Amino acid sequence: MDKPVYVTQPSLPALQEFIPYLEKIWENKILTNVGPFHQQFEAALAQYLGVEHLALCSNGTLGLVTALQALGVTGEVITTPYSFVASSHALLWNRLQPVFVDIDPHTLNLDPAKIEAAITPHTTAILPVHCYGHRCDVEAIQHIADRHGLKVIYDAAHAFGVKDAGGSILRHGNLSVLSFHATKVFNTFEGGAIICPDAQTKQHIDHLKNFGFVDEVTVVEPGINGKMSEINAAFGLLQLQHIDAALSQRQRVDAIYREALGGVRGLYCLRPQNGQVFNYSYFPILVGPDYPISRDALYQKLRDNGIYARRYFYPLIADFPMYRNMPSAHPDNLPSASLAAQQVLCLPIYSALAAEDQERVIRIVREVAEEAARDAQAAASVTPVVA
Ligand SMILES: Cc1ncc(COP(=O)(O)O)c(C=O)c1O
Repeated sequence: MDKPVYVTQPSLPALQEFIPYLEKIWENKILTNVGPFHQQFEAALAQYLGVEHLALCSNGTLGLVTALQALGVTGEVITTPYSFVASSHALLWNRLQPVFVDIDPHTLNLDPAKIEAAITPHTTAILPVHCYGHRCDVEAIQHIADRHGLKVIYDAAHAFGVKDAGGSILRHGNLSVLSFHATKVFNTFEGGAIICPDAQTKQHIDHLKNFGFVDEVTVVEPGINGKMSEINAAFGLLQLQHIDAALSQRQRVDAIYREALGGVRGLYCLRPQNGQVFNYSYFPILVGPDYPISRDALYQKLRDNGIYARRYFYPLIADFPMYRNMPSAHPDNLPSASLAAQQVLCLPIYSALAAEDQERVIRIVREVAEEAARDAQAAASVTPVVA
């Protein structure tokens, strides 16, 4: 059996490169609480991303929980069912009511045309996700938010480094939240960041992520422990040196898939909008009815050959037990999300993906289609026996 190929593999620098950072931590004995590496990484990251203010945090989920707290969101929040479950769990942890709205079948992001019908007097915010790093229709969403006085919090867990014509897409909405989880394009083992519009908001979030302390003896809010440790921050600082190379390797992998699979009957390769600087964080394909076998059969066939593609996002968040009885979770309300959850398959993509391993993935996906085409041709060429 060939060696297994997973959907992703974390980008790691050479271990030797990290040792001096560890030595520094051991020397200064500051392990957390906004130490020197935290401060350096925060500044360097803001500069890299092209944003002015951001607050590092221990992971993306706590970032979302904290962002919702910072904005004082109450009542109902409109969100997408087509995401990782943390997007909605962050709402439940704030005792907020998720209201699921269907996705656009082409972008798989929240469909702005469906948002207004879901707004009630209790709605206070929208929580869209830039799914796979593909930019949401931020203009339409902001227009709706402005008209109804709603806050917008982007779950930008997949959107590290993505830019549109105006710059980083993390500038949109009231707040955006990144994840630096091990599986993400940019990882700090665990970690995240909240992108803030101004210094005052950042300061508020800095207090919230540190139990609500504003000084040694004053606690102004019931904050949480959402701080990033010095080890994670030091690692992030080192990772920034390698991220551009990692992104261009991912771009190469993405281009090879597109070239090889773009023409396969029944497969649809999602693509980012033109004019974007993209991060190639995932390679999602939709396995449609014209492909000879179902998505699940292809998933299994790949697994049988040691290739661990993933069905992101299946099941839908709306199908998990804590959500499924909510009125907006009904499949009739979410036809495009339900279909995407049945058809999507994310193929392996990471910077160190070997050419021969990618070739294995491509060969299997194409073989299925080619065999079916040959069978169809053979069936058509059989001369019918006329009695
Ligand atoms: C869309 C989305 N939102 C939120 C998260 C949560 O981020 P974290 O794992 O850093 O808590 C993730 C990934 O893990 C994600 O993919």
